[in-house]
Amino acid sequence: MKLSQSLVLPFLALFPFALSSEDTPTFGSRNIPRLLSKDVIRGTLSFPFYQNHTLLFYHEDSGEMYVGGTNFVFKLSLDRFRMLEEIHLEATRQDHCQEGPCENVITVIEKFGDSLFVCGTNGHRPHCWKLANSSAEVIADHDGTGISPFTCAQNSLSLRVEGDLYAVAPLNIDGSCLQFRRKAGSRTNVWMYDSWITEPTFVSTSWVKRKDDPENEKIFIFFREKNSDQNPEADPWISRVARVCKTDEGGSKRFFQNTWTSFLKARLVCGYPEESLYFNRLQDVYVQHEEDWRDTRVYALFTSSWNATAVCIYSMQTIEGVFDNSTFKDYDKPVPEPRPGTCVRNSRALPLATISVVRDHPEMSDWVHPVHYSAPFYVSNNNYTKLAVDRVQAADQRVYRVLLLATDSGKIHKILESGSEPFIISQTQIPSLSSIQSMKLDSKEKKLVVSSAEKIFAVDLRSCDEYNESCANCVLARDPYCSWTTSGCTPTVPEGIQNIMDGKTSVCPASTSEHNQVNRTRRDAASAADVDLLTLPPVPVGVPFYLTCPIDSYHAVYTWKHGDQSSPCLQMHSNCLLLIPAMTPESYGSYECVSEERDYSNVVKRYRLTDRFDQRAKADRGKASAVAAQTLWITLGLGVSLFSK
Ligand SMILES: *[C@@H]1O[C@H](CO)[C@@H](O)[C@H](O)[C@H]1NC(C)=O
Ligand SMILES: *[C@@H]1O[C@H](CO)[C@@H](O)[C@H](O)[C@H]1NC(C)=O
Ligand SMILES: *[C@@H]1O[C@H](CO)[C@@H](O)[C@H](O)[C@H]1NC(C)=O
Ligand SMILES: *[C@@H]1O[C@H](CO)[C@@H](O)[C@H](O)[C@H]1NC(C)=O
Ligand SMILES: *[C@@H]1O[C@H](CO)[C@@H](O)[C@H](O)[C@H]1NC(C)=O
Ligand SMILES: *[C@@H]1O[C@H](CO)[C@@H](O)[C@H](O)[C@H]1NC(C)=O
Ligand SMILES: *[C@@H]1O[C@H](CO)[C@@H](O)[C@H](O)[C@H]1NC(C)=O
Repeated sequence: MKLSQSLVLPFLALFPFALSSEDTPTFGSRNIPRLLSKDVIRGTLSFPFYQNHTLLFYHEDSGEMYVGGTNFVFKLSLDRFRMLEEIHLEATRQDHCQEGPCENVITVIEKFGDSLFVCGTNGHRPHCWKLANSSAEVIADHDGTGISPFTCAQNSLSLRVEGDLYAVAPLNIDGSCLQFRRKAGSRTNVWMYDSWITEPTFVSTSWVKRKDDPENEKIFIFFREKNSDQNPEADPWISRVARVCKTDEGGSKRFFQNTWTSFLKARLVCGYPEESLYFNRLQDVYVQHEEDWRDTRVYALFTSSWNATAVCIYSMQTIEGVFDNSTFKDYDKPVPEPRPGTCVRNSRALPLATISVVRDHPEMSDWVHPVHYSAPFYVSNNNYTKLAVDRVQAADQRVYRVLLLATDSGKIHKILESGSEPFIISQTQIPSLSSIQSMKLDSKEKKLVVSSAEKIFAVDLRSCDEYNESCANCVLARDPYCSWTTSGCTPTVPEGIQNIMDGKTSVCPASTSEHNQVNRTRRDAASAADVDLLTLPPVPVGVPFYLTCPIDSYHAVYTWKHGDQSSPCLQMHSNCLLLIPAMTPESYGSYECVSEERDYSNVVKRYRLTDRFDQRAKADRGKASAVAAQTLWITLGLGVSLFSK
């Protein structure tokens, strides 16, 4: 039977909710989450009051997570998800606060050896504190200008490299003199030359280590700045990667003292160059470090003026290739030696010619293009704001990368990087009224921690229970965190069954319905024989009726089979319906809801419709059927109104 629009509409009027809501994906397409995760939030901690700004800091070496808010910082215990060692840090002096409450919003948390280094707005007078590890004791404190911003709305970043602190913060209360500097530690303080950047927003900074060549290590800075192209067609923003050498101590006393002598910048391209269509507004960056710096990858999230978002992936080797080999923009004289931007042992002894090129032409002519044929890895209409990337070792011993993307409305998408194709494994909704302010990945514990104005949440990335129904469910999920074993779908073990590459279920033990062997797991239901036939209470001729089937996978195609007829299914939230406008003698009999995904076909539901109670139906009726049918109607809130006619 075919469903025409005119038949469908009267039915919809009976439903108390809309056909598809914003929170439920429309099934049958690949560019949507395969399923909606439930019960993956393993910890929630509420703040005592609303936080305008929260900051998460994850210290990889120790596996410690710290949380900073207004007037406090605390260590978070990830296994039991509770607060450890809360430290109160109020503004040092209350008298200088002219207007509003004199709050100290924590904006910087770094760890130096055993001590914790914390800075905050301190009532518009940035200040830093050094805290002993075991106690909350302040062992030193000093002025924080240039390290912490004056208000939490201002741009700021911090980075620890060996014993040095690098920071982005404005020098003035109005937000001006915002730039990237080395601000404290054993090396000289160094800053930028004013004309290098225009109205920047700094997004991320990262230290890329080189085990065999530490002198050549660089610090990368990712930011967007105002486009100097005044053409009204031109995008207002341009996204950049810049770098400085770790060993850079600035120029000599006579020239470029305390100014980066190694600064270079290049354009980060994400889009379709043939169509001149670019995602220009850098939003977030996650640097996935590898043992060999050449394999390190930069995952960058961009937004665009037409409200689409994109993720582009860059290789560190390509980025360094541009800085090492490109010509300098608007500079056509011979390139001096050493080449501008080269890391040297003593930057104060660099020749004038080299530093002059850095001063006047720090931009590379070549652009940095992403891997994967220079195209964006993933383009979406979701308004993503935060990005993290995990490496997961699968049962086949290969390492897969999983992207974790958060939207402005608190959805988290778990996306498999499968070659050059994204595969959206699942969507989790964070139950918070406000947007996500900070997000940090604990790759050791496989937890993603997010903070909002009200709460902190921990998302368990290895919540495999949701695919526990059968081996096929577990394999179709293509979730590298999960594999099928004799105890169900569990966190990946080397001998687990998995097929991350193509999700084909042929890797699963064959099911009993094939009758040729018995090696199957108890709940491995793949055929009609395993699904209870529900005989519904009789439905008279002429009455409209509907059947419903739960959607487990939004990537599957669902079909209703009745005799030799096949009907598409109509999605309503997480259910798939078959609408019967009016029962006719042909409408009676059995119905199957069949889902098809990749190589897997599954009977999800079976119903029998009768026009009177008969003995056969009674015999068939499983103990659950009558109750199930009633519950079904009540759940959907219309069974009675249809049936009482
Ligand atoms: C949070 O921000 C609002 C508006 O910007 C301000 O009125 C309020 O004082 C701030 N609260 C704190 C604790 O900083
Ligand atoms: C920090 O902790 C370590 C080990 O827990 C301890 O050895 C050290 O003395 C502590 N340092 C301070 C300043 O308390
Ligand atoms: C983008 O989103 C903003 C804010 O929601 C809206 O005002 C604007 O019209 C949108 N632009 C396009 C091209 O859809
Ligand atoms: C850059 O130049 C060096 C030598 O000058 C070469 O070895 C390297 O392959 C080049 N890199 C790229 C990305 O072209
Ligand atoms: C996307 O989210 C950001 C951050 O919440 C917000 O400022 C922006 O307006 C949103 N864009 C659209 C198109 O909704
Ligand atoms: C998953 O399935 C297995 C076997 O079917 C069962 O033993 C196990 O308890 C299930 N786990 C959960 C969390 O439901
Ligand atoms: C079931 O599988 C186990 C281990 O894979 C194997 O040893 C056993 O022979 C199989 N049994 C049958 C009946 O195929």
